[in-house]
Amino acid sequence: MNRSEEKRSGMDLEERKSKDAIIESLPQILLPWFGKNARDLPWRHEITPYRVWVSEIMLQQTRVEAVKNYFIRFMKELPTVYDLAKVQEDQLLKLWEGLGYYSRVRNLQKAAIRIVEDYNGELPQQYESLLDLPGIGSYTAGAIASIAFCQPVPAVDGNVLRVLSRICADERDIADLAVKRDWEDTLGKFMPGEKSGIYNQALMELGAIVCVPNGLPKCEICPVKKICGALKQGKTGLLPFKSPKKPRKIEEKTVFLLERDDKIGLLRRPSKGLLAGLWELPNVPGTLTQEEAIEATRAWGVEPLRISLIGSAKHIFTHVEWHMTAYRIIVEQTCGMMVWASPNERSRKFALPSAFQMFLKEKE
Ligand code: ADE
Repeated sequence: MNRSEEKRSGMDLEERKSKDAIIESLPQILLPWFGKNARDLPWRHEITPYRVWVSEIMLQQTRVEAVKNYFIRFMKELPTVYDLAKVQEDQLLKLWEGLGYYSRVRNLQKAAIRIVEDYNGELPQQYESLLDLPGIGSYTAGAIASIAFCQPVPAVDGNVLRVLSRICADERDIADLAVKRDWEDTLGKFMPGEKSGIYNQALMELGAIVCVPNGLPKCEICPVKKICGALKQGKTGLLPFKSPKKPRKIEEKTVFLLERDDKIGLLRRPSKGLLAGLWELPNVPGTLTQEEAIEATRAWGVEPLRISLIGSAKHIFTHVEWHMTAYRIIVEQTCGMMVWASPNERSRKFALPSAFQMFLKEKE
């Protein structure tokens, strides 16, 4: 094992003590810093357990800027846990359309139903009870318990792992769950009591606006620059260490924008698996030529009149990439296998994932 591998595999007692001392000193630096530097974000205006929960779920794997308007619309249409528990699936998916990772919103509704049934519509305060709800892991349970209920528990996500790895010049692999658990334990020992929610947000904020992931972190304006190990050792560009993920599977697809008058043909995706229950443009595996594409559409019982290439595009999911080639095909008659929707109906009623929306752009 070379030195780097050794550092990634664990920590000796001295290292642990020095890390503890750094972590212990963070609240007194970050609480006042957050007071002056917190961004004005919609979910920070009125803090309720429901708003914290929904915002934290939306913010997973999604940028703050992208979430803002979704959050505002969601709260307007579904202002309480009860509204979320009883909303129709189609309306719920429309509210999430374009945000991606749709299992998040399904779990949100499953959890809302449990909260209504088991907790009288109030989110439970205990970290362990929150953790037991669908879609809530240690990060989200910690964020809700601390921000909404002022409990002294940490909320460690990828941003916080980056910040902590840099401050402590910690070379362990942040993709390793044991490393995350270890950080949760370490942070958990030094939470600032009822200010823990603010402290957790301060750590997130530091990661979002100063200790940024891509490009150069803004060390010159960082409130912890005096104690930052990565800065001292010239390693801000190298940390955190994250072991590479296994490569995504590539799936080639041919996608069809079938048009009849002003309507397009849509199919519903299966109720299980990727993008479950959402709508899609008809598509088949493989990259087809125009002749093959015309032939393939006949399987849906439509009669193609004219075909043109729209173009190709890539869409990246967590474990798979779709490499898509799309054709516009004017058809002579519609078929019963599909729903035929005008642009207006489409945008009101049918949640279409971003992977397909890109082929509609010039139409809507
Ligand atoms: N990222 C995750 N949670 C966040 C929050 N509460 N505020 C800002 N950015 C976040």
